[in-house]
Amino acid sequence: MKTAICPGSFDPITLGHLNIIRRTANIFDEVVVLVMSNASKKNPMFTIEERIDMVERVVSRFDNVKVKHYGGLLADFAKEYNWPIIVKGLRAGTDFESEFQMAQVNKIINPNFETMFLTSSEKYTFISSSVVKEIAAYGADLKELVPREIIKDIEAKARLGRK
Ligand code: PNS
Repeated sequence: MKTAICPGSFDPITLGHLNIIRRTANIFDEVVVLVMSNASKKNPMFTIEERIDMVERVVSRFDNVKVKHYGGLLADFAKEYNWPIIVKGLRAGTDFESEFQMAQVNKIINPNFETMFLTSSEKYTFISSSVVKEIAAYGADLKELVPREIIKDIEAKARLGRK
């Protein structure tokens, strides 16, 4: 059975993430969506537990996708697998440098580690968790940006932030 790992901070999960997860689930037997911390993203909107809960609700529609959390290095988590394959989305322009660097560093830590990229679908290229949080802060409609299952969670958090 071939498993792919889709790691991310998912603060919150967006339609862009969901598109990558769906396409990965079409290619691999099993997908592990791995909710992690990103050291360069301070002050997340959601706790790890809230992010796991949201991702679980969103991916429950897929039979071959499960959600895990790991608090350490991605390359260490991947040691659980013989030939770990990490699948990430790549948006035009914005992602290449940082993703290339992460892929290289992960391979130094764990030489079996392979990173594959799926180019983001055109429709989702402009979506990021940061854009979602900014738009939510102004109370705007989120249905074109995030899965319907988590719209209320983001709206509630954004309302708290406005108080
Ligand atoms: O969704 P993001 O924030 O772009 O995901 C980045 C993430 C969480 C996958 C990355 O920060 C990560 O792998 N964090 C776990 C700690 C780790 O392995 N850091 C080394 C990266 S070279």
